[in-house]
Amino acid sequence: MSIKGELKRNEILQLLADGKCHSGEDIGKFLNISRASVAKHIKMLTQFGISINSQAGSGYQLSTPLNLLNYKTIVEALNFPIRVDVCNIISSTNDYIKNKINSCKKGMTCLAEAQTAGRGRQGKKWESPFGASIYLSMYWHFEAGYQSVNGLSLVVGIAVNNVLRELGINTSQLKWPNDIYANDKKLAGVLIELEGQIGAGCDAVIGIGLNVQLGAAVVDITQPWTDLSQQLRQTPDRNLIAAKIINELYSLLSIFETKGFPAFEHLWQRYDWLMEKEINLSIGESVETGIGRGVDSQGALLVECDGKIKRFYGGDVSVRAS
Ligand code: BTN
Repeated sequence: MSIKGELKRNEILQLLADGKCHSGEDIGKFLNISRASVAKHIKMLTQFGISINSQAGSGYQLSTPLNLLNYKTIVEALNFPIRVDVCNIISSTNDYIKNKINSCKKGMTCLAEAQTAGRGRQGKKWESPFGASIYLSMYWHFEAGYQSVNGLSLVVGIAVNNVLRELGINTSQLKWPNDIYANDKKLAGVLIELEGQIGAGCDAVIGIGLNVQLGAAVVDITQPWTDLSQQLRQTPDRNLIAAKIINELYSLLSIFETKGFPAFEHLWQRYDWLMEKEINLSIGESVETGIGRGVDSQGALLVECDGKIKRFYGGDVSVRAS
């Protein structure tokens, strides 16, 4: 994909975002390209999953208006002097940060309209349709290395949940270690990738995917999901939500790097979706069964198994059907 072509497609989307019909001729004049080139770019955009109706003789129109990411709106709403790169269609925001890791400063963030290779935990694919969610990755450096990041993913979940509560989603909760649920359905997920040497500082790429308005086109998600438009009964501005997440994440990470997870333990207990639930915890081939009893001061999951509290540092949790 050429950068020039991507810029043109971005400009076309900016024009179409209002949801009105625009003729190929007008778009071509505005971008200084031929009608045939406009048609070529439109075809590529539809191949990325963007639904554009082509009406012979009148022009092109988005099936539904888009709320595009806007660099200026996001940066103006930030409380910290952070570099934010707003991208159009990229492989993955986590990869974007990883590729720049040597020049990143703490808090550097990448946002994208769509990801062609978005990934979730445990090697799963993260559905990333254009303009439908927030795909965000933030860089952080932990001077004290791997041993200082215990509970990091839980703190990231708390940051996202604080924003959701502020938006008025009172049912949002956290599923250990880093899923965000609302009304028992997944609303957002967190993927943290760490790089570093034992005994030295470590770099963290913190990826967040938050469903905003996924729409019916998404059929590949295998678990019950929800999005902000369902939870709020309207679709909020992605730019303001992105800015809120960046602000909250930056400020919680600044506390976390000095105080660690103990400073957040009480918040987790308040938001814990697994608390008192009967759960199965899969670790490799084995499955442990018990009752969720919160987390310890390092963020490990506490499960009551046959009357005894056990601590777990990894695994995949599911709630047992009642
Ligand atoms: C999960 O619940 O499995 C974690 C999902 C994390 C998805 C986000 S979207 C932004 C960032 N880029 C990626 O490729 N993944 C994360």
